[in-house]
Amino acid sequence: MDKVIIVTGGAGGIGSDICRGLASDGLKVVIADYAKEAAENIAAEIRKDNGEAIAIQVDVGSKQSVGDMVKATLDKYGRIDFLLNGAGVLTRVPVVEMPEEDWDRVLRINLKGTFLCSQAVAHHMIPKKQGRIISIASGRGVAGQPRAAHYAASKAGIIAFTKSLAVELATYEITVNAIAPGATDTPMSRSGSTREEFEKREAIPPLMDGLTKKEEIVGLIRYLLSEATKYVTGQTFFLRTPK
Ligand SMILES: NC(=O)c1ccc[n+]([C@@H]2O[C@H](COP(=O)([O-])OP(=O)(O)OC[C@H]3O[C@@H](n4cnc5c(N)ncnc54)[C@H](O)[C@@H]3O)[C@@H](O)[C@H]2O)c1
Repeated sequence: MDKVIIVTGGAGGIGSDICRGLASDGLKVVIADYAKEAAENIAAEIRKDNGEAIAIQVDVGSKQSVGDMVKATLDKYGRIDFLLNGAGVLTRVPVVEMPEEDWDRVLRINLKGTFLCSQAVAHHMIPKKQGRIISIASGRGVAGQPRAAHYAASKAGIIAFTKSLAVELATYEITVNAIAPGATDTPMSRSGSTREEFEKREAIPPLMDGLTKKEEIVGLIRYLLSEATKYVTGQTFFLRTPK
């Protein structure tokens, strides 16, 4: 398969598993992350396993940097079939104490980053009349998140952005969807707590089965990139009931 996917946040806890999983399916994977060394390490690991991957350093909140990322991908592979918007950040602070800088940074990376990357790849996908864009939202985008209102607002924004862009791009046979994991065990979700505190905080009834597993996320992405979902667009897929 010579299909190419850009995964932003591809060096992160969830992103790196997405990169490994899709590379093992035969996709050419662009690991696009601000964390250059971590992205390079994952790309090297994938290539060692006979997959195809490159690392590109990007700041998804910068139009210039996103443009450079798209150009570098096209220079290397000559095409972009899929985009996965996975870069995201979180701080934990109540609204009344939240520094303006925290609000701006979380909205800039999570929401504006999703806009800039989607816009940049859409310019390339529209003339080809094909493409799939998937963004990682969160159950917090509908349930809210005390001590992380900026994060919840950014994820709600991704859900609305997804619905809007899906309609705009439908004419070009490009689908736009979002996935909304529940709490998933990664450095982001553990930030500010010990493992014990994290597990206690996220404990929910057994039927709803605690943490989202990274393999569930990878499986859903595979489905959304498959022929089976050619006409599925504008949707947000919740992996757990938002709470
Ligand atoms: N972990 C969870 O519980 C959870 C739940 C729901 C949704 N999510 C979402 O899943 C995505 C991945 O989260 P994660 O848990 O793997 O977090 P993570 O912190 O492990 O990974 C996030 C990645 O984004 C990268 N990044 C940060 N700023 C960037 C920028 N300006 N440009 C490019 N890359 C940048 C980081 O370097 C990191 O590799 C995020 O969008 C997050 O909001 C996570």
